[in-house]
Amino acid sequence: MSDKKSNAMWGGRFAAGPDAIMEEINASIGYDKRLASQDIEGSRAHAAMLAKQGIITDNDASAIREGLLTILSEIESGKFEFSAALEDIHMNVEARLKDLIGDAAGRLHTARSRNDQVATDFKLWTREQIDASIGGLEALIQALLKQAEAGADWVMPGFTHLQTAQPVTWGHHMMAYVEMFARDMSRFKDARVRMNESPLGAAALAGTGFNIDRHMTAEALGFDRPAANSLDAVSDRDFALEFLSNATIAAVHLSRFAEELVIWSSAQFRFVQLSDRFSTGSSIMPQKKNPDAAELIRAKIGRIMGSQVALLTVMKGLPLAYSKDMQEDKEQVFDAADNLMLALAAMTGMVSDMNANADELRKAASSGFSTATDLADWLVREAGLPFRDAHHVTGALVALAEQNGCDLPDLSLDQMQTVCDAITEGVFDVLTVDNSVASRISYGGTAPEQVRSQIQRWKQALS
Ligand code: ARG
Repeated sequence: MSDKKSNAMWGGRFAAGPDAIMEEINASIGYDKRLASQDIEGSRAHAAMLAKQGIITDNDASAIREGLLTILSEIESGKFEFSAALEDIHMNVEARLKDLIGDAAGRLHTARSRNDQVATDFKLWTREQIDASIGGLEALIQALLKQAEAGADWVMPGFTHLQTAQPVTWGHHMMAYVEMFARDMSRFKDARVRMNESPLGAAALAGTGFNIDRHMTAEALGFDRPAANSLDAVSDRDFALEFLSNATIAAVHLSRFAEELVIWSSAQFRFVQLSDRFSTGSSIMPQKKNPDAAELIRAKIGRIMGSQVALLTVMKGLPLAYSKDMQEDKEQVFDAADNLMLALAAMTGMVSDMNANADELRKAASSGFSTATDLADWLVREAGLPFRDAHHVTGALVALAEQNGCDLPDLSLDQMQTVCDAITEGVFDVLTVDNSVASRISYGGTAPEQVRSQIQRWKQALS
């Protein structure tokens, strides 16, 4: 047993201090110091409310306020000394407040508990991260819109099963990611609305007998209202889970795009050139230019989704209300948030810098019989064949082209008519990749005019 003095904050009933291992497993200050500014903001709102309600004096409230501002500047300038013996950010701040202003510091914790305090701090922090994530996604979307605009009519192969399917446009492919990242953005916005209720004043779990004004503190902290159930307020972490879930889905989208960039930048594809700023060389193979940023973005989903699974697992089966298990929430969210922001910034940089190789895209689009569907559609429209027969005839023409080592537009009319005598010269109009994409004018289709109208829609929505 340690003979250290018992904890100054809660040690009234303790004869001895904690074992060193107890201190190590218990302390969260190593990471929850990231909540310092939110903790001070919450305490300032609480103190102002206590004074307005006549629970503490105006003199005490202004001493508390001044003291908290001093502490904030000490922390911001790196002068603050954090202590593991004081466990967490809440008690580190309060202990320093006592050094600075004496007994008035002890009145700050009236009608409050660390349980509602930490829930409030963590919610404020997560809310800021939601806003930052929305900003990061928007920057990426802007970069994608620029790419889409530049290449609204560049033809490239569209794939299914990673096999050439039909020609699409570069702009269309970029805009597919705009749709995904915009949904990610709206998921964060939705979550922000749902989470914006203040836990402060729920106290330990049951509320308090003091005549507090939870509406006042909620408003001061930018919440829409106080959370309506004190048990829920201190034990809810679904705002953090929702953040992680949204981060996970965004990371999945980033990962898919990153994978395409890895493939596209290879010597076998040559669809894009990534800038030197987002590539690295090999220490042994001088010719190499590796898409490391894309690969790391592709990998970030591992830890981000891992964080979500970790926190879900921590929360599963916890009885109401607060349990110390919940201290394990913060590192997961911090790590996921940091890595999502980093991945978004790296992807935005890569997209802004990358050069699509329009000639290679076109060449690739023109191989692999990519206009076979256009040919079948022509047979339906112009020669009156049922689609199933048209599909069959087209298959025979593809086989014929393959035998001749050429593509569909390279077959002569005579050759085609040996397969189907209803074919006329007009068929050649639909066999080029440009005509193919130009014909896909259905809403949301790949025709350049459709792509351009989607670009305009998003530009307006985001302006
Ligand atoms: N450091 C704690 C946490 O992060 C603060 C809340 C502690 N509450 C308590 N009753 N011990 O969860």
